[in-house]
Amino acid sequence: MTDTRVPRRRRFLVCEPRHFAVQYAINPWMHPDVRVDVDLAQEQWQTLIGVYRSHGHAVDTVEPVAGLPDMVFAANSAVVVDGRVFGSLFHAPERRPESLHYDTWFKQAGYDVHRPESVCEGEGDLVWTGRHVLAGHGFRTTREAHREAQEFFGHPVISLSLVDPYFYHLDTALFVLDDSADGSNVVYYPEAFSPGSREVLARLYPDAVLATREDAMTFGLNSVSDGRHVFIAPQAEALAGRLADHGYAPVPVDLSEFHKAGGGIKCCTQEIR
Ligand code: ARG
Repeated sequence: MTDTRVPRRRRFLVCEPRHFAVQYAINPWMHPDVRVDVDLAQEQWQTLIGVYRSHGHAVDTVEPVAGLPDMVFAANSAVVVDGRVFGSLFHAPERRPESLHYDTWFKQAGYDVHRPESVCEGEGDLVWTGRHVLAGHGFRTTREAHREAQEFFGHPVISLSLVDPYFYHLDTALFVLDDSADGSNVVYYPEAFSPGSREVLARLYPDAVLATREDAMTFGLNSVSDGRHVFIAPQAEALAGRLADHGYAPVPVDLSEFHKAGGGIKCCTQEIR
């Protein structure tokens, strides 16, 4: 079965963690009294970038800005589908200035950027599946932003209600294994969603891989898949094993320093489609 999974080459946008720190607490993982080892964070991040490149993926970088310690979490700054860039408007005032720097990068790269009118945290909450956009709300991105995104992309946007503060962004509770229009499939932790949203996911993805709370708490759902390789936290060993049983090739990459800020592999990675 493994041989039937076909990777697709990706273009990723990332931001070096030169100024990474935990200075404020805007999710339950963040404790400003816990020290971050910036050298180790840099090393872990460089490993991730090296692994992406060695798997054939293109990686572009945004210049980090001093005083914006969460800027490394590139996923939150936009969602790009069909070359259309839907920018961000952060919930936390501490993160709001990040949008300007990412918007500037996109404009210099030749893209127009749509600025959302209501709070929206990019791919953190808006997840392209190959068929539609799954959209989280409850902690950060608003339902108004979901409507705005549907109008902007012209693709169906399916609102899902997040209920567990540890999984405050959709990309901490769900990731896309396969984004081909015909084979689209996801992995998710059902209890992170309201009962109705769970039912919606079960109807849309009857063949989804279901994750446990432990998989989610080890950032196993904050993974990136290219259709074959799944770049995943080594702490999420059990989930990686189940993905291997489904024919995927897990590639463990340790971003433990970033877990202290409530982020992992996917948070550090935005995809330009
Ligand atoms: N400290 C950041 C925040 O709380 C972490 C962002 C994680 N990003 C993500 N895509 N889940 O906003």
